[in-house]
Amino acid sequence: MTHHIALYGKGGVGKTTLAANISAALVEAGFSVMLVGCDPDGASCSLLHDGAALPVLQDQIRGRETIAAATAVHAGYKGITCVELGSSPFTGLRSPGDLQRGVQELKRLQLFEQLKPDYVLYDIPGDSACSALQAVVAEVDIVRLFVVATADYKALQSANDAFALLELLNGERAEPILMGGVIPNGITSSFEESFVSDFAFHANARTIGKVPRSLVVRQCELYGKTVIESRPLSNQSYYYRRLANQIVDASGAIYSGNLPQPMSAERLRSWSREWADRIYALENGLVTDGAAI
Ligand SMILES: Nc1ncnc2c1ncn2[C@@H]1O[C@H](COP(=O)(O)OP(=O)(O)OP(=O)(O)O)[C@@H](O)[C@H]1O
Ligand SMILES: [Mg+2]
Repeated sequence: MTHHIALYGKGGVGKTTLAANISAALVEAGFSVMLVGCDPDGASCSLLHDGAALPVLQDQIRGRETIAAATAVHAGYKGITCVELGSSPFTGLRSPGDLQRGVQELKRLQLFEQLKPDYVLYDIPGDSACSALQAVVAEVDIVRLFVVATADYKALQSANDAFALLELLNGERAEPILMGGVIPNGITSSFEESFVSDFAFHANARTIGKVPRSLVVRQCELYGKTVIESRPLSNQSYYYRRLANQIVDASGAIYSGNLPQPMSAERLRSWSREWADRIYALENGLVTDGAAI
């Protein structure tokens, strides 16, 4: 069975880095993996290709009736199937409609049936209308949505927007799109970890994994590789492998009935003010460690 998994989140929170490292960890664990890049820059898969950009599917098709399935995909690290559906300098920025047509093309080429990957990961950029996410879920049955969030207000607001979209879509579907969890990324302290976890708790969601902020990620990015490939024995690789493992568990789990409940704009604001007060208390020595959190 193929599990279609979406990684979503605000710009710059680390989706692409996570998608590539999770893919690498999954393939090392023996699963077959396809990474579908939806980033507008068309560079979702480059860490699996020594930093090189891949041809964008829509560019490959341009001017042709169709292309062979084998031409549409590119084998990356340890045989991960890579597809880029983003934009390219040749075509300019693509719309969510273009992205949706790109996913339709994958279906038309019957890539999922032919390749039968265990996991298909979609690296989906965030915006206030969650339009790229909408484009993907309109075409494929996403088994779990994972929202990537750094410990800042805007990242959590974007996660909350995704919960709101999920609630809206699920109201119209027989089979709900399930929430896999919020992935805290770039975490530097227990305070940041608690901040993201508490947000998830208040939105009836949960966090899954935790990826610390690390210079190793930057180093490997400069090499054009995943951490899993370039620094396989590093602590950071451990976190990516652990997360991949948790994603496998979450994707196979039987639906428990928990769907996220987005906070209203007012509730999100009052919740964040409570956290601002906590930071004040920490800064001013009213509490002296994270225990009070
Ligand atoms: N855990 C981490 N520790 C340190 N740096 C990180 C971490 N995760 C990601 N980064 C760095 O943060 C930057 C942004 O990451 P990335 O491109 O994966 O984000 P993104 O969410 O895909 O962004 P976009 O929305 O623009 O596509 C990159 O330089 C990446 O190396
Ligand atoms: Mg990206």
